[in-house]
Amino acid sequence: MSTLKNDTFLRALLRQPTEYTPVWMMRQAGRYLPEYRASRKTAGSFLDLCKNPDFATEVTMQPLDRYPLDAAILFSDILTVPDAMGLGLYFEEGEGPKFERTLQQEADILKLTIPDMASLQYVFDAVSQIRKTIDGRVPLIGFSGSPWTLATYMVEGKGGTDFLTIKKMAYTRPDLLHRILDITAQTVIQYLNAQIAAGAQAVMIFDSWGGALSHHAYTEFSLNYMQKIVNGLTRDANGSIVPRIVFTKGGALWLEAQANIGAEALGLDWTVDIGEARKRVGDKVALQGNMDPAILLSTPEAIEKEVASILASYGHGNGHVFNLGHGITQWTPPENAAAMIDAVKSQSKQYHQ
Ligand code: CP3
Repeated sequence: MSTLKNDTFLRALLRQPTEYTPVWMMRQAGRYLPEYRASRKTAGSFLDLCKNPDFATEVTMQPLDRYPLDAAILFSDILTVPDAMGLGLYFEEGEGPKFERTLQQEADILKLTIPDMASLQYVFDAVSQIRKTIDGRVPLIGFSGSPWTLATYMVEGKGGTDFLTIKKMAYTRPDLLHRILDITAQTVIQYLNAQIAAGAQAVMIFDSWGGALSHHAYTEFSLNYMQKIVNGLTRDANGSIVPRIVFTKGGALWLEAQANIGAEALGLDWTVDIGEARKRVGDKVALQGNMDPAILLSTPEAIEKEVASILASYGHGNGHVFNLGHGITQWTPPENAAAMIDAVKSQSKQYHQ
């Protein structure tokens, strides 16, 4: 494997000194890029892109070829895991992801098992192929959904609902939900460790729906399982730590608790001031975030102002990875993403002297 030419992102996650604030964007490979839309058309569908390592590599590289980003992220989806568990993932045009089968009946939940990782080999093949193609330009991030977030899709059959089916299960049959979460957490540990073995240099756990939980339920049904995962992850082939980022969207109320589960970094959405967040977590973790992706729909001037405000709020010192507070939207003009990245690069040097 070639040596890493730009390890700024990994150093920031470990709160080591860097020359500037590294930057990448959640969903950086995606529909806002015309080259992504062209690849998706050639491949046939989004899932065809994910399941073919050549296409997954091609689209992972697209944002890196356009912008001076400091990290690449594996092109895949968090829902490959429930798909491998036999639930039948599909996408309908214009609608979000859906599952053919759901986990609501006790008999189905009792049948759930950890899938054979061979059924996810296409993901690990994509990781190794991307590592070869990146050739040490920047580190590659692997990822998974959190057990809670994956369970919302497995129980509800789709995303973005009011979560009443899974919440009813949490309050009436917590034993059944804990069984789903436990098997999913064990699966995610194997899945992320296989990504690490294939070459992932940092890993991120997306808890996109953790913010829907009540205060106590968040710890019981989401955070505890993310902690199990963090504890179950291995080092890389050289024995170096593979930094772990935990991101609960809508979870800024619980940052102190998140900072105690052993992860190196926390993701922040846009609902919290990053300087305040830094004070709350102290020197326990690095912070990644937290610009509202909607700002990228405005003007380069507004974007530069917002970048300045986030950098100033974080202030001097190490441990900040600049990112959006959630995925870039498909309506973002690509030149506005460039304006953000350039602004981070040029404005952040003053905070690293
Ligand atoms: O960041 C990247 O560039 C890596 C790729 C990536 C995708 N999904 C590609 C994708 C990552 C890291 C994900 C994670 C993911 N997938 C999450 C967690 C992060 C988050 O957004 O909260 C979730 C909840 C999912 C599930 C999922 N997949 C949804 C809700 C959707 C539909 C939403 C949408 O934007 O249409 C997807 C589809 C999806 N995943 C697309 C991409 C590029 C769009 C598919 C297309 O090309 O039509």
